[in-house]
Amino acid sequence: ANTPHPVNEPVRSYAPGTTERAELKAALARMSGETIEIPMVIGKNHVFSGRLTEVRAPHKRSLLLARAHDGNRTDVAEAIDTALGASKMWGEMPWTARAAVFLRAAELLATRYRPLLNAATMLGQSKTAHQAEIDAACELIDFLRFNVAYARQIATEQPQSSPGTWNVMEPRPLEGFVFAATPFNFTAIAANLPAAPAIMGNTVVWKPSANALLSAHWIMALFREAGLPDGVINLVMGDPAELTTAALEHPSLAGVHFTGSTPVFRWMWRKVGENIDRYRTYPRLVGETGGKDFVFAHASADPTALAVALVRGAFEYQGQKCSAASRAYVPKSMWPALKERIVELTRMIRVGDVADFRNFMGAVIDGRAYARITSAVEEARRGGRARLICGGEWSDTEGFFIEPTVMETEDPKHTLMETELFGPVLTVWPYDDGKEDEALALCDETSPYALTGAVFARDRAFIEKASTALRRAAGNFYVNDKPTGAVVGQQPFGGGRASGTNDKAGSVLNLLRWTSPRLIKENF
Ligand code: SER
Repeated sequence: ANTPHPVNEPVRSYAPGTTERAELKAALARMSGETIEIPMVIGKNHVFSGRLTEVRAPHKRSLLLARAHDGNRTDVAEAIDTALGASKMWGEMPWTARAAVFLRAAELLATRYRPLLNAATMLGQSKTAHQAEIDAACELIDFLRFNVAYARQIATEQPQSSPGTWNVMEPRPLEGFVFAATPFNFTAIAANLPAAPAIMGNTVVWKPSANALLSAHWIMALFREAGLPDGVINLVMGDPAELTTAALEHPSLAGVHFTGSTPVFRWMWRKVGENIDRYRTYPRLVGETGGKDFVFAHASADPTALAVALVRGAFEYQGQKCSAASRAYVPKSMWPALKERIVELTRMIRVGDVADFRNFMGAVIDGRAYARITSAVEEARRGGRARLICGGEWSDTEGFFIEPTVMETEDPKHTLMETELFGPVLTVWPYDDGKEDEALALCDETSPYALTGAVFARDRAFIEKASTALRRAAGNFYVNDKPTGAVVGQQPFGGGRASGTNDKAGSVLNLLRWTSPRLIKENF
């Protein structure tokens, strides 16, 4: 099967006067002007439970975007039965037929659905137009198209056969259903976690984040319009602990595809352990969890590139990327000048309503995030071992707004250098010039995470030294670039240690987790 060679979807600019901008503005106006109902989707049914959760814009709490119909354990049971019921039809379809559904979804998203999913992501998750475009449009289109290429690779790669025999690898789906539990911070990840197992023939129960229900609703609409058969992906929202427990206790659980916090993934892992004797098969656990991502600067670094990378890496999407730059190691000799550049750039950042395209940052996702981030900054300031460089202001009157905040500390093991905050806070530890080895060792051991990291240097010998010293400290390691913004097919994404199972999203390695192949040997 000669599937199209995937290319990364070009990023649209939404410059003033363009049609794309007019279309996006129209979608924003439409979605802001109505309060829709979001049902669960189980098989062919839209399920309106009547137990309603309000969906509001994080940057404008007065804006009621939707009411979502919450489910409970009974709905999960129903969704599992439906997924299992659809698995024969879907799993026995030729892989090319499944691929066609997702290729069609990619085309629909590249055109008609693009303003809709971008607007839903902007309003529901408080992303700017650019941050929505690189996520809900480009990254998701890329996932859909590249997954097809990976599925093809898996279907067509065959073992050797010797004369008189024939060996065939048949890529079967897993036996059972896959549970996808998805995050608020990337619409593309929320869609890919159910879609990647599905393209390999699995059927899925999908529990989206309660903070991304508007985009989840449009993702379901997109997949269904693309021809996804009923029951392949079933959407159930509601109390996360209740829904997840119901899914993980089911004997037919075959896999978990998760992106979210480290404590939740560990809790899920324990649940699976507790239930291990019930399952028909060993469930595959694939998780991408927290990060405390570093930028390590050497005295030979280009200061402008470094300042820009720090500011963009730390503050784009309010720092709510698991890949966000949140701790920096800077030589003392470089720090005073660099600090000035960072402060200058940070002061240029406008924070506010994402529907105003001049704003570079929106609000953080909810009141819990707001409280966590602001109290961590407050505490650090009161504790006296960290100094505020800029930012440090916030307000939740209209939305959950936090100014981009830069802190400096003399303690390389300060909690700000260690704990994931998931917000717009960058902490810098200036290290003694000449003590790079100690600084590299601290960078490696200070946080339990190992997701992304970057080194900035022009000195090649230092780049090699840092790369070796930090070999285990990041699953995605960037040289002279910010640690965010991995592109599907170009930078397969994932980390180790407390950051996850490192099954590289955006590569064939992830799709390999969703197949349980059968080897068939025949003698002639
Ligand atoms: N893939 C995203 C990035 O690289 C994070 O999930 O920023």
